[in-house]
Amino acid sequence: MSKRVAILISGGGSNMVKLAQSMAGDHPARPVLVASNDPKAGGLDRAAEMGISTAAVDHRAFKGDRPAFEAALSAKIAAANPDIICLAGFMRVLTEGFVRHWEGRMINIHPSLLPLYKGLHTHQRALDAGDQEAGCTVHEVTAALDDGPILGQARVPIIAGDTAETLAARVLVQEHALYPAVLRRFAAGERAPVYLP
Ligand code: GAR
Repeated sequence: MSKRVAILISGGGSNMVKLAQSMAGDHPARPVLVASNDPKAGGLDRAAEMGISTAAVDHRAFKGDRPAFEAALSAKIAAANPDIICLAGFMRVLTEGFVRHWEGRMINIHPSLLPLYKGLHTHQRALDAGDQEAGCTVHEVTAALDDGPILGQARVPIIAGDTAETLAARVLVQEHALYPAVLRRFAAGERAPVYLP
């Protein structure tokens, strides 16, 4: 039986598309839901075009009441009965209660070489620090932000003249390779980290 995967997004969903495309053939998982906190997220249209069920729960309607937002989001997720949740550019911080419920079954991609640069503005911070390389990390989601066990990392060089935008674009190419590779292993029960390229 295939594992059922829900993907949470907030934006364009390029990682979501790569994950969804990867779940075909002998892959041990299938996408069952793409959900967003932003009803205008471009990724929702892209998911629908791929024939995947979509849901939107607008966090702004809950005026900062994070548990109420998550209760509404959880109802949509529960209706899809997933085995695994992939956060793919999902830009809301989740409460400890939500995370605990899904612990061991929820993974995230973060655009830095964790444990470096948790949180936002990762590429600018790598440039400001004078780093010679950057990258991305897929990790299990635990209650502490961007902190769970690492499941995979991919590195890119930082090149003279890089801006946060050029670096982000180079890292994103690696995200698109890393996240599907990790999900395939995770869905098969493999937890040992994978390092690309
Ligand atoms: C990706 O770069 C992802 O790593 C990042 O948002 C982008 C989403 O792009 N995630 C975070 O910053 C999480 N804190 P996408 O919507 O095209 O996949």
